[in-house]
Amino acid sequence: MAVSQRLLGKVAIVTGGGHGIGKAYARRLAEEGARVVIAELDEQACQRVAEELSACGWEVLGVPVDVRDEQQLQAMAEKSLSRFGRIDILVNNAAVFATIPISRTTFDRIDPTEWDLVMEVNVKGTWLACRAVAPVMQAQRSGKIINIASGTAFHGRGGRIHYISSKAAILGFTKALARELGDFNINVNCIAPGSTLSEENPDDQVVQHRLESSRTRVLKRVQTPEDLLGALVFLASSESDFITGQTLVVDGGNYMH
Ligand SMILES: NC(=O)c1ccc[n+]([C@@H]2O[C@H](COP(=O)([O-])OP(=O)(O)OC[C@H]3O[C@@H](n4cnc5c(N)ncnc54)[C@H](O)[C@@H]3O)[C@@H](O)[C@H]2O)c1
Repeated sequence: MAVSQRLLGKVAIVTGGGHGIGKAYARRLAEEGARVVIAELDEQACQRVAEELSACGWEVLGVPVDVRDEQQLQAMAEKSLSRFGRIDILVNNAAVFATIPISRTTFDRIDPTEWDLVMEVNVKGTWLACRAVAPVMQAQRSGKIINIASGTAFHGRGGRIHYISSKAAILGFTKALARELGDFNINVNCIAPGSTLSEENPDDQVVQHRLESSRTRVLKRVQTPEDLLGALVFLASSESDFITGQTLVVDGGNYMH
């Protein structure tokens, strides 16, 4: 894969960058020339990914953070600023999904505690991360916020209604925030991935599940984290400067809108 350094000089924060798709986002942003902050709940993974990417010669900072905690996010923004001097890109990728698994069950069986956790991380965490980082972007009068929703928010598949509701919230959040931050030259967009084989050590059941999802696609194959990287770099780069409030569905033509 030829990489063209489209993000040279930029500083990017990836929440949930210690595992799965977020880890792939962090690597590609670094490959494109960005200095990257891995903001991750799992401290070991945070450190491991930061070390892996630093060993490739890229400037990377690992910041253990729980996106439910406003003060930790504030500290993350301050550390990013003091290390790199600016923040250009925020990828709101952290979620309760695979690394912290959620139950796949019907609406009447979901534990209310799990409902609250999913909403707190996936929705409130995205809002709080934007609140911590947007003032820096507002002062710069530039920035790219990329939220991560899910194709499930369009399909409304049965099972995991808490997760699907949280991702549907991100679609509206993206539009409203885009309107609020437009005057500051900040683009707010969203990627809605299809079912993606993101697990580090997937068991047969997970592989089977991902295979089944690929059957209803136009492009009938299993989606991998790499399939999302073109959309990410596009929305993070100046090539998308006149695009805001939009959701790009990346799922091999499963959902079309
Ligand atoms: N894999 C898929 O099929 C798929 C499909 C559509 C959307 N998505 C979305 O893409 C994103 C990445 O998905 P993934 O498959 O890599 O899932 P994942 O669960 O492996 O990744 C989520 C990351 O967020 C971190 N995290 C969880 N809670 C956190 C918290 N409170 N604070 C900070 N970090 C926290 C996890 O440790 C993990 O590194 C998620 O937003 C997910 O909802 C995934």
